[in-house]
Amino acid sequence: MIEDIADREPFAPFERWLSLAEQSEKLAETMTLATATLDGRPSVRAVLLKGVDRRGFVFYTNLESRKSGELFVNPHAALCFHWKSLMRQVRAEGIAEQVSEDEADAYFASRARGSQIAAWASDQSRPLENRAQLEQRVDTFTRRFADRSVLPRPNFWSGFRLVPERVEFWQDQPSRLHDRLVFIRDGESWRKERLFP
Ligand SMILES: Cc1cc2nc3c(=O)[nH]c(=O)nc-3n(C[C@H](O)[C@H](O)[C@H](O)COP(=O)(O)O)c2cc1C
Repeated sequence: MIEDIADREPFAPFERWLSLAEQSEKLAETMTLATATLDGRPSVRAVLLKGVDRRGFVFYTNLESRKSGELFVNPHAALCFHWKSLMRQVRAEGIAEQVSEDEADAYFASRARGSQIAAWASDQSRPLENRAQLEQRVDTFTRRFADRSVLPRPNFWSGFRLVPERVEFWQDQPSRLHDRLVFIRDGESWRKERLFP
């Protein structure tokens, strides 16, 4: 099956695998994102892929969250998609860059109003006294923006694009003899290598 990846770059096969996964499972765009502190202590969490093109993989988040704090001091990041229904995995490693203001504005504007309010209300990753404190903050921002049809994007909320140096496609095969194909960035183009499983 993996022999079918005749592409010279990883994004077209990634998009094919993602759309196949979307046909067979919910939230197929979920990816595990790994970041690390300057001294190399890693942390991982799930985020949603909100855009992919020849530049990289985009997700959105609070810029004051733990993950963002780590990315600001150490932009090296990795992500992993695991599609159980397909028994396939895609991994990518590279540098995370903040998306442009225009790109973040456009995505924020496309979100449901409740999600926009939630972005304002959540001090993501910081301690919360209790659920009531969160609900109170939601009320506060709901009232603050009651007379505005369009909500502004908080300046502490934006996106990152993981610009990959390496993208690996993995597919289950009988007797654990899985197929692995990795694309490694080589200047303007990509080099392909097979790996032992
Ligand atoms: C399926 C799923 C999708 C998620 N998508 C996002 C997302 O797109 N952006 C985000 O900031 N957090 C998302 N989260 C929450 C994160 O996993 C995490 O709890 C949060 O971002 C705080 O992480 P941090 O403290 O490491 O910064 C998602 C969680 C799950 C389970």
